Amino acid sequence: MKFNTLSSALKGKNNPTSKQRVANAIRTAGIAISFDTGSAPADRARYSPTLIRWSANLVREPRSHSRSRTAWWRKKPELLPLNSVVPGAGFGRQTRCSSELPMSDHKPLARQKAIVTGANSGIGESVAIALGLAGADVVVNYVENEDAANGVVDRIHQAGCKAVAHRADVSAQDQVEDMFERAVREFGTIDILVANAGLQRDCAFAEMSLEKWNKVLEVNLTGQFLCAQAATREFLRRGVVPSVSCAAGKIICMSSVHQEIPWAGHANYATSKGGIKLLMESIAQELAPKRIRVNGIAPGAIRTPINTAAWNTPEALKNLLTLIPYGRIGLPEDVARAAVWLASDESDYVVGTTLFVDGGMTLFPGFATNG
Ligand code: BGC
Repeated sequence: MKFNTLSSALKGKNNPTSKQRVANAIRTAGIAISFDTGSAPADRARYSPTLIRWSANLVREPRSHSRSRTAWWRKKPELLPLNSVVPGAGFGRQTRCSSELPMSDHKPLARQKAIVTGANSGIGESVAIALGLAGADVVVNYVENEDAANGVVDRIHQAGCKAVAHRADVSAQDQVEDMFERAVREFGTIDILVANAGLQRDCAFAEMSLEKWNKVLEVNLTGQFLCAQAATREFLRRGVVPSVSCAAGKIICMSSVHQEIPWAGHANYATSKGGIKLLMESIAQELAPKRIRVNGIAPGAIRTPINTAAWNTPEALKNLLTLIPYGRIGLPEDVARAAVWLASDESDYVVGTTLFVDGGMTLFPGFATNG
């Protein structure tokens, strides 16, 4: 085992050549691991001691992630022999960027207070934890599964930040107002809203009940309207506090590639996401003069409970990967890192933009071999 080689390469992790040395050492040890590219802070985090330990564990314990331990979509990367064909390699055999959000001294959200809706699972869970790791105190909103929400709160406490779980249906105005009142009571104010809560009620159009239509629109679109409005009122009341952030507040609307891509069998969902796009852009335009930054994130296929059927069999995953030029399904952490950046002053001049985190799904992949 070449563990010593890896350890000695890792000692210089802060010097400029360390990435190359880590990559070489890992290669020498006979495995491939993918490091994604990203902004400087995320990059620093990725090479933090936590990740380095994690990488070392991979070297020593190549198949440590048996299905029995936790849901397999949360597992750490499988190891691939160097000569494996990586793109679209199939069920559970893809290289992955970091599926951990490591502790880091870099705290771009220090002293900031956030609300993340739908934070008890999937993308929302990962975003809430990432904001905590980046230094923010977080209200972990949920509507069901209190235990899961409390688990997220614990993870944020471990990162040294405050967190509370708060049950609220984002489509009910009184519950949204209560949630913001509690946030201000507990934390003093709110600087960041990640309007993430969303659901699918898929159905052929001819069969779609008004109930299914309304439910999706109420939670996905009206929920974002209500939360963004409550956040805006608090941002306007407080204004800019330069020692905390350049902006009076940041709103991140969780959208989807389906704000652009039509989706048969999901007319309610795609409509809600198209609505989020123009809601986000309209309020971004209106609120920018008040120094409130509103942006969107449009995830593609991210491995979460909302789309289990799209990835939980080898065949489904293979089909899905034909839509993803980058050759792997996304992870909640891919989205979480984007959310931290959009919430931080590092993106201070980014206003009214949708950041697609989709492995190229919106690049019309069918045209790579046709047209
Ligand atoms: C949906 C997922 C889907 C992905 C790509 C997301 O917005 O929630 O179910 O897999 O878009 O189609």
